[in-house]
Amino acid sequence: MRMYDIIAKKRDGGVLDRAEIAFAVNGYVSGDVPDYQMSALLMAIYLRGMTDEETAVLTEVMARSGDMVDLSAIAGVKADKHSTGGVGDKTTLVIAPIVAACSVKIAKMSGRGLGHTGGTIDKMESVPGTRTSLTQEEFFRQVNDIGIAVIGQSGQIAVADKKLYALRDVTATVGCIPLIASSIMSKKLAAGSDAILLDVTMGDGAFMKNLDDAIELARLMVSIGTAHGRKVAALITDMDKPLGHNIGNALEVAESIAVLKGRGPADLTEVCLQLASNMLVLAGRGDLTACRALAERALADGTAFVKCRQMFAAQGGDAACIDDPGKLAAAKYRYALTAQGEGYIAKNDVEKIGNASVLLGAGRIKKEDAIDFAAGIVMHKKLGDYVRPGDAICTFYADDPALFPAAEEMYRGGLILSDTKPALPPLVYARVTADGVERF
Ligand code: URA
Repeated sequence: MRMYDIIAKKRDGGVLDRAEIAFAVNGYVSGDVPDYQMSALLMAIYLRGMTDEETAVLTEVMARSGDMVDLSAIAGVKADKHSTGGVGDKTTLVIAPIVAACSVKIAKMSGRGLGHTGGTIDKMESVPGTRTSLTQEEFFRQVNDIGIAVIGQSGQIAVADKKLYALRDVTATVGCIPLIASSIMSKKLAAGSDAILLDVTMGDGAFMKNLDDAIELARLMVSIGTAHGRKVAALITDMDKPLGHNIGNALEVAESIAVLKGRGPADLTEVCLQLASNMLVLAGRGDLTACRALAERALADGTAFVKCRQMFAAQGGDAACIDDPGKLAAAKYRYALTAQGEGYIAKNDVEKIGNASVLLGAGRIKKEDAIDFAAGIVMHKKLGDYVRPGDAICTFYADDPALFPAAEEMYRGGLILSDTKPALPPLVYARVTADGVERF
């Protein structure tokens, strides 16, 4: 078999078989297939697409390229969630404790920030002392003891995805539904949970910019997971505005704790309740109405907050910061970005908001950059709000005031005021399950 022929077959619109996909992916992992040939194949896939069957095979080959975690040493149903990425998306820090408080085990591997989007592991590390790398034995023991552990993804999970993602990132082949679906589902299948809820974000801050594409991605991922014997569903959630008000690691931990204490922003609280309820349904805790009631009770009676506190404490985090987020790292400087005109905020480009937070130090510009946990943005006015000249739209936080001008230019570049109030997007557009698509 030759890589040349596989590339040519896909270039000409052919359908690759299992042997060809395995040859390309495993050869790339072993180093036998060079970057330039894999880049050509990725571009051919980007342009020609893949059938559902090809995507399922690609996912399986990628999942098996590294460790397949066996969670059977943990008693009970194990649930996982995955977001396709967003700005201000701190839902894992709320949902995982809610679900664990409802007696479903969370043995979760999460990622770091990527581009303009944040990552759970960076957020967790903003709580001083938190260890996000545990041995398998520690990980299993913690989940068996307290029902929840969230750690960084081991380098041995879906090894092919790690290499392929880095290549896609620099060859303009990230935004391709079969490649995104196989990337995400290879990691989820390898991570071993029984029930997997996918949060497919849609909007200008997300990979998926329209509902049809988001539903197609969700449908594909649900069918791949279901074919592998997992319970999988997806919610399509809005990313035309960031969730909540806070963007940046410690700021987002503080906002998540506010939700867990029943004092969080309404949009974030509602999305978390919907995601948590759907996770509980997948884990077999009842129908959606019963699971919504369970999730609401875990928030209202404080058991979800207690789970979150237990998780951080078990992983070495300073529980005093969970009790009082005012003790988390605080930035030395702040800057209020004010409105220059009057009108409704008709557009507030989410990718630009995310990039502004990266420029303040909340994310990485280069892979090896250190993160400033205290840096970020607190939004006071969001899409659809009315502003007058001088009104504070948001506050920037950074350790160096020299970072403010570039972040301001980035943020203002995505801001449009209008005399007419824009139509506000729903929080959740649709649910995709193995039984079909339900649009809201
Ligand atoms: N997240 C992933 O893990 N992979 C993708 O391809 C896109 C988003």
